[in-house]
Amino acid sequence: MIFERLSAGGCQSYLVGCPESCVAVLIDPEITLIDRYTAVAAREGLRIQYLIDTHTHADHFSATQQLSRRLGVPVAMHRTSPAPFVDLRLDDGEMLLVGKHRLQVLHTPGHTGDSMCLRIEDRLFTGDTLLIGATGRTDLPSGDPDALYDSLVNHVLQLDSQITVHPAHEYKGRSHSTIGQELADNPRLQVRDRAAFAEMMRNLNLSMPSHVTEALRTNMSGGKTVAQMLAEAAAVVPFMSLAELKTRVEAAVTELVVLDVRERDAYEEGHISGAKLLPRGQLELRVNQDLPDPTRRIVVCCEFGRISTLATATLREMGFQRAVALDGGVKAWREAGFPLKTGREP
Ligand SMILES: [Fe+2]
Repeated sequence: MIFERLSAGGCQSYLVGCPESCVAVLIDPEITLIDRYTAVAAREGLRIQYLIDTHTHADHFSATQQLSRRLGVPVAMHRTSPAPFVDLRLDDGEMLLVGKHRLQVLHTPGHTGDSMCLRIEDRLFTGDTLLIGATGRTDLPSGDPDALYDSLVNHVLQLDSQITVHPAHEYKGRSHSTIGQELADNPRLQVRDRAAFAEMMRNLNLSMPSHVTEALRTNMSGGKTVAQMLAEAAAVVPFMSLAELKTRVEAAVTELVVLDVRERDAYEEGHISGAKLLPRGQLELRVNQDLPDPTRRIVVCCEFGRISTLATATLREMGFQRAVALDGGVKAWREAGFPLKTGREP
C-alpha cells in the first residue's frame, strides 16, 4: 500500500494507493495543496480515483470539488452531506474498491451529522471524530455530543486496538496513534459515562475556528472562496510593479490611464497623480462613458491590490485587452514613500 500524509497547517490529508493497480483515494484534501496532491500522485505513479471528505469541514477549505473538476474524478461523502456536488453518497457498512484494497465506511456522527471514519485494512482515517488525545468538537452545525459518544464507544473504540488512527487534524506533529493508545491515554475517552461525556463536550467553550462562515459556505455549496476568486483573476491578468508605474507616471506617459477603483473619499484622501476615479461598484455602469477606447493601456489600482485584480479581470472580459493590475495597492505605494495627490483631479 502506498501511503502519504500531507499537512497544511494542522489539517491532515491522506493519499492511499494500490501500487499494483496504480489507483488511489485522496482523503480530506485541502485547497492550498491541490498542485501538491497531483504531483505526489504522479510521482508515485497513481491515478486518483476517489476524492473523499470525511465530513463537512468548518475549519478548512475542501479541495474535493476543484480536484474533481480538474481530474474528472467523483467526490464521495456521507449520504447526508449537504454539498450538492457529491457524486457518490456513502453509508455505514459500504465499501469502495481502491485497486486491491477495500475502503470501508463507518458512519460516525457527532462532530457533524455526516462524519465518517474510513478504514483501509489496519488504518482508520477518523476525520474529526477521533483525534490524537482529543475528539472533534460538537458545537458546530449538526454537531451532537450524544451521537459522538455512541459513535466512539459503540463503533470506533470497538475496533481492534492495533488499528492505527489517522485524524483530519493534528497540531503537535504526531503522525498517528492507535485505538489502544487512544483508549488508554485520550483524556476525553476516560469519561466513559454518556451523560458526563456530553456534559464535558458541551462545556468545552472553544473559540470559533477562523473563516468558519466562509468554510461552511463554500464546503456546503461548492461555491468559491475569496482567495479562489482572486487567484483565478490573478491568473488571467498581467501586473505592473509600483516602481514601474511611478517611473511612467513621472515621465507623464500619456498613453497610460491609471484607473483608481476605490470609493471617492479614499481617492480624495490620496491618489496617484493623474489617476481617474471609477469605483469598482460602478465599473460596468460607467465603463462605456468613462473609458470609450478599449485599446487604451490601463493600470488599475485599489487600496490593497486585490479588488484591482478582480476589476482588471472584469475589464479584460469586457474587451480592454491592455488592462493590467498594479502589483500592490495605494497602501503599498504610500508606504514606499511615493507621492500622492489629494482632492479631485482637474
Ligand atoms: Fe471538522
